[in-house]
Amino acid sequence: MAEPAGLDLFRQRRFGLFVHFGLYSLGARNEWMRHRERTPDERYQRYFDHFCPDRFDPADWVAQAAAAGMRYAVVTTKHHDGFCLWDTALTDFQVTNTPWGRDLIGPLVGALRERDLGVGLYHSLLDWHHPQFPLDGLHPLRDDPAARAAGDSRDIAGYRRYLHGQVRELLTRYGQIDQLWFDFSYPDHVHEGQRVWGGKGAAEWGAAELLALARELQPGILVNDRLGLPGDFVTPEQYQPAAPLRRDGRPVPWEACQTLNGSWGYDRDNHDYKSADLLLRMLVDTVSKDGNLLLNVGPTARGEFDPVAAGILAEIGRWMRRHDRSIYGAGPSSFVPPPDARYTQRGNRLYLHLFAWPFDAVHLPMLADRVVYAQFLHDASEVQWVRADLAPPTPAMVADLQPAGTLTLQLPNRRPDVAIPVVELFLR
Ligand code: GLC
Repeated sequence: MAEPAGLDLFRQRRFGLFVHFGLYSLGARNEWMRHRERTPDERYQRYFDHFCPDRFDPADWVAQAAAAGMRYAVVTTKHHDGFCLWDTALTDFQVTNTPWGRDLIGPLVGALRERDLGVGLYHSLLDWHHPQFPLDGLHPLRDDPAARAAGDSRDIAGYRRYLHGQVRELLTRYGQIDQLWFDFSYPDHVHEGQRVWGGKGAAEWGAAELLALARELQPGILVNDRLGLPGDFVTPEQYQPAAPLRRDGRPVPWEACQTLNGSWGYDRDNHDYKSADLLLRMLVDTVSKDGNLLLNVGPTARGEFDPVAAGILAEIGRWMRRHDRSIYGAGPSSFVPPPDARYTQRGNRLYLHLFAWPFDAVHLPMLADRVVYAQFLHDASEVQWVRADLAPPTPAMVADLQPAGTLTLQLPNRRPDVAIPVVELFLR
């Protein structure tokens, strides 16, 4: 099968923003709160009745993403709680019926397009609000005796029609959509150590028809792999693969999704943040293994990025401004990097990312006859080299002769003051 048209651009963009926003942002204790607390509809209704993100400014979200170096975004249209962030005709449980009273998806898509960022929509396959969505071991009403007793009256076919109808709305109302991000299938799912009863997958979603519908309405669209069918790219969640991913022996496009603090939705009391340095390493590591990184922000209920999230994005942006040449359009290299380092490569430019500072020299095997020029990326200052494989540059290095073909970069002993120093190597 030919590659979908959008895949090349998707790979070049490399870095995107994930946004989880919804009624759970008011509860401010993770987007799974309704599951964890077994919250009945009547009690969850309080968030609907008070939904008013008065500080929401789509241009600001997009500006912060763009300044961080992100080239696309994936935004929740509906999460597992079933609340819809666009003006859907298919349920009342949607944004225009809240006190805030307007569509959120349209303006956000418009703001992304204005800055030329790719547009992705996240859509939950689970729905804890829809009356025809059959109970299962993940449903908030899983232990509710009345709901269990009435369980047989729920008919997945009714929910399936709703799901397909909503996807049709989303893919026909907002112009070109680059990515559709379904979440998730769980026919044999183990959750917190237990096999989930009533799990659902491709058959329940009508996945094949849904996929065909998406491709018919948006011919260039990329669909992820969580429908219970293979998609256009795979989605490792909160973990970094050890090597480029493969499917049936062939490289498969992938996008790692990562949180700032372990939670996708705004989680007020969780301060377990990753540092900007660590997140940048994850980005570099991802690109060195031919993947994309989708980094999440869960805005507050007033519709803003909280100060910690905003600060982390700004810090990422400080590095990206001077180093994005090693990220966009770059991918893995066939050269083997030295310890504590990652290579990315774009054409004849090879980028050496130094995660740890290697004293005053770093040895690069196989590169002696390949490099014509070397410079730091942050200030374009020349990095000189020697061939320590031919003659030791100092008598002290006699005992450390390198294998033939090794190039030895001479580094300043003070590490440049950037999150990750990068040496740009021009290859012949
Ligand atoms: C999960 C979670 C969810 C989150 C998603 C992001 O499957 O259910 O809350 O939206 O992963 O990858």
